[in-house]
Amino acid sequence: MTRCIVFANRKGGCGKTTSAVNTAHCLAAKGRKVLLIDIDPQAHATISTGKNPGAQSRGIYDLLTGQAGLEETITRTDLKNLSIIPSSPDLTAFEIDFSTCKGSENILSEKILSRAMEFDYLILDPPPTIGLLTVSALVAAQEVYIPMPMHFLAMEGLAEMMRLIYKVNALWNPELRMKGIIPTFFNKNTRLAKEITEDICKNFGKDRLLPGIRMNISLAEAPGYGKTVIEYAPQSSGAKDYMALAEKIDRK
Ligand SMILES: Nc1ncnc2c1ncn2[C@@H]1O[C@H](COP(=O)(O)OP(=O)(O)O)[C@@H](O)[C@H]1O
Ligand SMILES: [Mg+2]
Repeated sequence: MTRCIVFANRKGGCGKTTSAVNTAHCLAAKGRKVLLIDIDPQAHATISTGKNPGAQSRGIYDLLTGQAGLEETITRTDLKNLSIIPSSPDLTAFEIDFSTCKGSENILSEKILSRAMEFDYLILDPPPTIGLLTVSALVAAQEVYIPMPMHFLAMEGLAEMMRLIYKVNALWNPELRMKGIIPTFFNKNTRLAKEITEDICKNFGKDRLLPGIRMNISLAEAPGYGKTVIEYAPQSSGAKDYMALAEKIDRK
């Protein structure tokens, strides 16, 4: 069974792309066949796997607008078992042009699920806004993981994400489930982090609190070299934390 998972949060800078890219590489390193799907016009996941956005012949925009088939858009990376459908800034036009078209939320799922069987994992990296692209990712996926810094307003953002997931359940995709919350920029010694993780356990159950990702400079540096943290700094705490997270997700 192919698992289609999405790392989503309505805010930018909470570690979605970092989690999508590094979890994808960790799962690939474990021998899983992984397709990373960059569905953010900022194309940070594309850059993080060493690709130049727009320089790729075909990408997610071409797929969604029917200008290319799935086979043409799947691009191999230098990493074993890891392929990507790259993004580019022109993806913004899809959101603008298709937002008012009936049924446009289903386009992504219809396009990718046809050949999904070849992969163990499809990993989606949507933008930090709740628009057509993020909704499309939630319609296509079965599992949502929410990367979340342990900030003061974190629980409020989480409630908003849950409302969105219920809406997607009701309108388009009854199978979608919130499988886990990933504490990012995590410092387990702060009182705030303790309070928020306790809140998560109380409201969602202990099994949905996933291993935290500590603040680690290698995680921020790696994309600048077009590398995942596992390539760039395999001994770093960032690499170790994402390995532990991927292990947990793989066993779910
Ligand atoms: N655990 C971490 N430690 C240090 N820097 C991080 C960590 N997680 C993410 N970053 C950096 O923070 C910024 C935002 O992360 P990113 O994954 O791009 O967030 P999002 O996709 O949610 O907007 C990026 O520059 C990224 O490299
Ligand atoms: Mg991102």
